[in-house]
This record gives sequence, C-alpha cells and structure tokens, in this order.
Amino acid sequence: YEPLRDAAERSGRYFGFAYAPHLAQQDANYRAIAEREFSMVTAENTMKWESVQPSEGQFNWSGADAVVDFAQANNQEVYGHTLVWHSQLPGWASNISDPTRLSTVMKDHINAVAGRYKGDIAYWDVVNEAFEDNGTRRQSVFQRVLGDGYIEEAFREARSADPNAKLCINDYSTDAINSKSTAIYNLVRDFKARGVPIDCVGLQSHLIVGQVPSTYQQNIQRFVDLGVEVRITELDIRMNTPASQQNIAQQAQDYKKVFEACWAVDGCNGVTIWGISDQYSWIPDVFSGEGAALPWNSDYSVKPALAELAQVM
Ligand code: XIL
Repeated sequence: YEPLRDAAERSGRYFGFAYAPHLAQQDANYRAIAEREFSMVTAENTMKWESVQPSEGQFNWSGADAVVDFAQANNQEVYGHTLVWHSQLPGWASNISDPTRLSTVMKDHINAVAGRYKGDIAYWDVVNEAFEDNGTRRQSVFQRVLGDGYIEEAFREARSADPNAKLCINDYSTDAINSKSTAIYNLVRDFKARGVPIDCVGLQSHLIVGQVPSTYQQNIQRFVDLGVEVRITELDIRMNTPASQQNIAQQAQDYKKVFEACWAVDGCNGVTIWGISDQYSWIPDVFSGEGAALPWNSDYSVKPALAELAQVM
C-alpha cells in the first residue's frame, strides 16, 4: 500500500508517531516503518526535562539530537515534546520553592531547549497536562510556586526562543467537550484576546475502545474557531488484553472515527500515534491488563485499524 504519509499529505495533513531512537537501533522493522509511513516525529521521551537537563545546568542532548537527525534524514517534521510538565521532571527542579528561582529555571530551560533546536521544530508542546479533569489547575510545582501566570510566562519565553515554532498546549481527556477541554478553551480565548502567543491545541487522545467521544469533532471545531490549530498528538486506543476479535474490530472503527473527525475540520492539521507496534507501547506499563492500542501488532502485522485509517486519509 501507499505510504500513509503520502495519503495524509494529499489532504494537507501530517501523520506522525512517537519515536524512541534506541528502538530504531535495535529493531529493523520498527525503523523501516518509522521511515516509510510518517511525516512527523515526536520524541516519546528524549526531549523531556529529565532527559535533557537531568541536573541543573547539565544538558544531555544525545537523545534529542537523535530525534531531530532521524526526522531530517527522512524528510519529516519534528513535533517538540515537551518544555514544561510536572512529570518526568527531575527532583532538583520539582523541589524548588522560591518563585523567583523557579521562574528563572523554567525560562532558562525553555531557552536552552527551544533555543538549541530553533528552526528545526515545527511545533512545541510548551505546557503539558496543566489541568485536572474538573477544569481546575493541576497543582504542579509550577502552579503551586508561580501561580496561574506560569503558562503565559512559558509561552512568551518559548516564542522569543524560537519565533518560528508553533506553540501548543497539550493535554489528555480533552477530546470531548467537558470541563477540562473547556478550561483549555477559556485559556486559549483569553490568550488570543490579550495577544499572548499560542498557535495550537494538542488533544492527546489516549482513548479506550468503543469510547470515541460523540463531541470530538465539535470540540476540535470550537478550538479552530478561536483561531488556533488543533492536532491529535498522542493517539492510541486501548482495550483489555488479551484482545478479543470484537474489540479489534471496534478499534478499527474507532481509529476511523478519530481521523474522520480531524479530517472534517479545516485547521485540524494532523494526527500522531503514540508508538508504532503494540510491542513497545507505554499502555501495559501504566494501565495494567490493557494494551493492543496501536495499529500494528507486536509482530508488525497490521491490524484492521490500519486499513480504516488509510481509507479516511
Ligand atoms: C509516556 C511514554 O510513552 C513512556 O515511555 C514514559 O515512560 C512515560 O511517558 N502523556 C504524555 C506523554 O504527554 O509524554 C507520555 O509518554 C504519555 C502520556
């Protein structure tokens, strides 16, 4: 079949995946699919704070460089993930309690990372997972020490560090119209009204089989109507394992629905899946007893989901 990236490109959209450089080293099948099928690359882990700045002022660029190099070698765009996040944040940063110092540390981190890759990154997840499901702010170290203004501060810093990267806010369980997505909607509306730089909203879309929200498309549309792009940034669709035939068939329909919802809205500019094959998916590590969430089986045979999403593209 035709590479999926070509199909997506005909619709003016990107098809991306979460990339782990060590897997391309050790697994030729992984590497071949990574090179052939995708037009955008997100670092699954190697651009996170703990990877690039494990101790204060000590930067390790090897894993992040490997992602950018891979993408450039394969004519792919890079989706930067992520600058400010409470998770995979080293202890030295998460223990800071002085606001002036944390503000400096946050801005220095943004400058160092976005500055190093200036011009190489199409989009940055500037702030990841800042909200609780009920729409209140997550009490991360940034929120507790810096207060509500930290998101704006981070976006302004990212804009000055790399003026050409599109700047996104990203979160999970924001796929439907609900309290959490509405909190982000209100933040984007406020930023747009006050001229705070923001260009896009990332919907992670870690979904459960049979539960693609009925308001997905409407939700995407309302963000686009505010004047930002929407991207589906971390799609996977999990189920109980071992997977039943029925769930695998349902999953194919669910993947199709996600792509249809995005493709139906001008301004939903691409979908990224969170991995390639089930073999290396993060799901079983975090959701015990669940998995089978990606379009490729562990042996790289394709699931029905792959045929469905190829149709929609
Ligand atoms: C996950 C990775 O897939 C795992 O390898 C890692 O151990 C934990 O993080 N939301 C995000 C991603 O924004 O960065 C997370 O990635 C999945 C949930």
